[in-house]
Amino acid sequence: MRVRPNRFSLVLTLLGLFVGGGAQATSAPVADPEPTTRHGETDGQHARRMQWFADAKLGIFIHWGIYAVDGIDESWSFFNGKVSHEDYLKQLRGFTASAYDPQEWARLIRQSGARYAVLTTRHHDGVALWDSRQGLNVVRDTPAGRDLVGPFVDALRANDLKVGLYYSLPDWSYPDYDVFTRKQKRYALGAEPQRWQRYLDYYQGQIADLQQRYQPDLIWFDGDWEHNAGEWQSAKLRSDMRARNPDLIINSRLNEYGDYATPELGVPVVKPGQPYWELCLTMNRSWGYQPRDTEYKSPHQILQILSQTLSMGGNLLLDIGPKADGSIDPRQVEILEKLGRWTRKHAEAIYGTTAGIGLDHFAGPSTVSKDGRTVYLFLDGAPNGDLLVKGFDSKVLRARVVGGDQPVQARVLGKYDWSRHPGLLFLSVPRAALDPDITVVALELDAPVKLYREESKPIESNG
Ligand code: GLC
Repeated sequence: MRVRPNRFSLVLTLLGLFVGGGAQATSAPVADPEPTTRHGETDGQHARRMQWFADAKLGIFIHWGIYAVDGIDESWSFFNGKVSHEDYLKQLRGFTASAYDPQEWARLIRQSGARYAVLTTRHHDGVALWDSRQGLNVVRDTPAGRDLVGPFVDALRANDLKVGLYYSLPDWSYPDYDVFTRKQKRYALGAEPQRWQRYLDYYQGQIADLQQRYQPDLIWFDGDWEHNAGEWQSAKLRSDMRARNPDLIINSRLNEYGDYATPELGVPVVKPGQPYWELCLTMNRSWGYQPRDTEYKSPHQILQILSQTLSMGGNLLLDIGPKADGSIDPRQVEILEKLGRWTRKHAEAIYGTTAGIGLDHFAGPSTVSKDGRTVYLFLDGAPNGDLLVKGFDSKVLRARVVGGDQPVQARVLGKYDWSRHPGLLFLSVPRAALDPDITVVALELDAPVKLYREESKPIESNG
């Protein structure tokens, strides 16, 4: 297990920044009615730029690189001294991409119900998947011998999927990068500022190159923990990138200069405080292809995680790790296909929704439609009796099972005219309508959902 203590503290710091970064009301009669938030953008502009991402809910992460050849940890295996750098790079010779079928990848991704994908264009090992001018790349240095990014980007666009490109700020193989392995540093930044400047020019040049060639909708940085914002020139990078594409979305791993938070592997226990976030998750324990790793989550478990994520208002970025020839392990294909069955059937409860009503009100995940007038309750397994919803202060016009529209009986019990307490809402879901994985019940309301949250007290006057 690798230990990287700063990631969690970074996420916590970001949490604080986002929570604290709310809009301030202003009384000055200025022309712009919207208060400025972060990086010179108003709340409204930020929300408009983030809209597709917030609505997308499911993305597919793809870790593809030479590490699939020996099936070892992506980049970390040499960083942590499990193999030498020299042995790690021998994998260059085995990276063929001979069965690479980007159309098939895009079709599978589309079919899973994802609305975007994020491909590792260059991991910490520095091996670029495109014909980069400098550094290692698969075109020059592997038998694959061609650009692997462009065809995938085209296939995503042809399938109406948004394009995300992962890029590691550190390149542990590059002679002008200061960090080499966990134990070895090449040089100290202060001692060789020109050398660090060469690295900055190299990596920022690669970002410009990626943007010019592929016009990504999203750039997913990684590895910012090795340097601070000043050293990376994060502010400059952000403004250069946004100048090339004002609509670009950037993940949080650019010190404090990103647009959304990226909790990793651990499904959040409490709802993250920041408005936009995305949980990135492996299907087994590994990001890249590791045939010895058989600890796969089942399709049902992944649906449970997706439901939890939706319920807390986040996105799930689920990872696949293609083999060195570009084919995808059948276990990963199966998960994508099973996800697809469920997401297709329950689309209205997934895409464009917001966080649910919370566990105080319903003992399970839930989501709410953007207009607030439909509440979706996620039911894992078959209940022994009715479902219970508490503190539900809205009138249910109609209750139904999503996907087949079977009616659900909704009854309010324990409501007294003289009490503000809305009583208990009981729902009888027909057994025949249950989904083999997770059933979703839609409650259609006469107005945006209202929740009653007063503390229960003795009632001093009945009637
Ligand atoms: C971590 C790992 C990296 C992986 C990434 C995905 O930062 O360093 O190997 O690509 O998480 O979130």
